[in-house]
Amino acid sequence: MALSSKSSLWLLLAFLWLFSACTHSEKPEDKSKDEASCTKSKSMNPNGDSELALLMRQMYDSLLAMNLIIKNGGIPAAFPDAFLKIHTAKPTDSHTKPDGFDAYADDYLNTYKKIYQSPKSELKSAYNLTVQKCATCHEASCPGPLKKINKLKLEL
Ligand code: HEC
Repeated sequence: MALSSKSSLWLLLAFLWLFSACTHSEKPEDKSKDEASCTKSKSMNPNGDSELALLMRQMYDSLLAMNLIIKNGGIPAAFPDAFLKIHTAKPTDSHTKPDGFDAYADDYLNTYKKIYQSPKSELKSAYNLTVQKCATCHEASCPGPLKKINKLKLEL
């Protein structure tokens, strides 16, 4: 009996230790989330992703897929019309969009569309230029995802 109550005390201590280890590890996690998004408040509101943030993730996934297609000698299929919504999709808050957002967005969309008109020999550079347009707008407004964006670039 004495042994089992002793071991349950140890269990309790182990539990407390684990619990405190968990709360400590939250800090670096939050930081990495902040790096992926623009606004600090977002990590406290994981279900509150804005329409614009969700669209951005689709754009990221789409370029990542295209990266693999081009790397493997394929040709991208068609410009995703859904991305035209970049102008109207609701941002996290009214301060999220930088001045000149629509001009950056048009520049990006036009560059993106040109990928589909490029001859195969120029696909890589047309693709990289599009990634650069993502980065240009982000440098102006939302540097968090820049690292992730720059990793999309293909080696020429
Ligand atoms: C015209 C400006 C602009 C362009 C172009 C742009 N972004 Fe963004 N991006 C933003 C803004 C503003 C946000 C913040 C959205 C929000 O929080 O509502 C954002 C958010 C993001 C996020 C974080 C989404 C999240 O989970 O919170 C990623 C990742 C991202 N963009 C990647 C990209 C990629 C990849 C491209 C190019 C294919 C791109 N962006 C092009 C302005 C831009």
